[in-house]
Amino acid sequence: MKRILQTRQKQFSKLFSTEAGKIVSGFAKPYNDIPGPKGPLGLGNIFNYLPIVGRYSWLKLHKASRDKYDKYGVIVKETMIPGEDIVWLYDPRDIAILLNEKDYPLRRSHLALAKYRKDRPHIYRSTGLLPTNGSEWWRLRSELQKEISAPKSVRSFLSDVDEITKEFLVYLPKEQSFDALPKISRLNLELTCLITFGERLESFKADEQLPTSRSSRLMLAAETTNSLILPTDQGFQLWRYFETPSYIKLRKSQEYMESFAVDLVSQKLCFFKESNSGDSFSPLKRTSLIEEYLKNPKLDLSDVVGMAADLLLAGIDTTSYTTAFALYYIAKNPQVQQKLYIECEKVLTNRTSPLEGDVLNTGIPYARALLKEVFRLNPISVGVGRILQRDLIFGGYQVPKGTVVVTQNLVACRLESNFKDATKFRPERWIDQRRSDMNPYLVLPFGHGMRACIARRLAEQNILVFLIRLIRNFEIVWKGSDVEMDVKTLLINKPSLPIDIELKERPQTNFHLQV
Ligand code: HEM
Repeated sequence: MKRILQTRQKQFSKLFSTEAGKIVSGFAKPYNDIPGPKGPLGLGNIFNYLPIVGRYSWLKLHKASRDKYDKYGVIVKETMIPGEDIVWLYDPRDIAILLNEKDYPLRRSHLALAKYRKDRPHIYRSTGLLPTNGSEWWRLRSELQKEISAPKSVRSFLSDVDEITKEFLVYLPKEQSFDALPKISRLNLELTCLITFGERLESFKADEQLPTSRSSRLMLAAETTNSLILPTDQGFQLWRYFETPSYIKLRKSQEYMESFAVDLVSQKLCFFKESNSGDSFSPLKRTSLIEEYLKNPKLDLSDVVGMAADLLLAGIDTTSYTTAFALYYIAKNPQVQQKLYIECEKVLTNRTSPLEGDVLNTGIPYARALLKEVFRLNPISVGVGRILQRDLIFGGYQVPKGTVVVTQNLVACRLESNFKDATKFRPERWIDQRRSDMNPYLVLPFGHGMRACIARRLAEQNILVFLIRLIRNFEIVWKGSDVEMDVKTLLINKPSLPIDIELKERPQTNFHLQV
């Protein structure tokens, strides 16, 4: 009996395996048999996302995702409107098949943003890195990633990032409760502008705190655009025919961000022309990304403006929300905070010692494990999406070319079948347990493959510098609600509650080293 069972298992895995991404068996179940919600009268499940009458909400997309997993299992087909499906994948083996496809990965997102840019051919040559697909995407990506993704280039920003972070710590309130998230957003705005344009916004200063200031408006414009991506990507897309209220908000936010980007890019260009040296004065120790892009003959001016706008859009909320969740877990878990503090004391023997690149590479295993655990529990997106470029099999079902397939890493990372004590915050799991015990396709906060986040190393560096400096200098005390933190899915998952903390000054000297 045992042998028959083993033979059957072998046959099964042969039948449902894929070979170079092609369907190798006629035995896979048909696409239409994939379970999932179709909505009232088969009209489409988009109706279930309507305010008041719907059972789901765009703001609680992770809850809708969990509900679908509980009802239908590891693969779900959701018909949004007739003829427009999304297939959701919860099994890391399926996620691996999807994200290891070899061709230029196609994403179906930021559609309204793409329209906005297409309508302005005098400013944009393409729709930018976020919404563009195919060879045009690769033309941009292959040139842009040289400066922003390469490890050496990222490290060359370290000392500037460290300096601004130190300045930011001076600005943070001490010995009193405050909501950390809006402040952290200012840090990430400042860092994004410095790295991108080599310019300081001085966004920590009192007059920049006003809602009418440049920095406040930029942060609002980025968050507004991000929060409108999901609702405008789904459903009837009426904005294609006339300006819907959502599209008007997106357009106005983009107009503001674009005018900022165009201004700074043209300032750099004028400087190049006047100085003839190609180097402008900048508070940054190395040249900024935009200056490097302007020097690249394979990129034209409109490519550079598009990239500047993309960096402003993608750089602030992503890093800020992740850092906010990290602060929440650190403040709520004193033992975690103590372990982190001991590590920070070792690498920063006094509070102002500079942070070296080597320290980030090998000296902070606990801080890195902590960040990974934050990404496991609170990735900034529910998962990543692709448009299939050929027929594939997922979960034993045929899925045809052209289908939009989205991974469900957030839900999968919170399942007990994938992680022991799945809902507990335990950075130690990344140190104690052998890495090979964990499926590498579960924690993928930056996506995977050629289309993964272009700024992964930069974002991790900025977050780690901030956490190390902060915890070396201050004890963080949780002052917020006892209600469990949840997320608001504004495309980028935002903490559902304020990050109310208090900072208590730590001793200047390193007691551990003195003993
Ligand atoms: C904690 C911080 C961040 C996280 C978790 C994150 C996550 C992601 C994810 C999941 C994607 C989609 C990947 C895929 O489809 O496989 C992405 C794409 C992207 N991210 Fe990030 N991101 C972060 C920070 C940043 C920052 C700081 C910037 C820029 C300054 C940035 C710029 C971009 C861009 C331009 C893309 C589009 C890349 C492409 O389509 O080729 N991200 N990011």
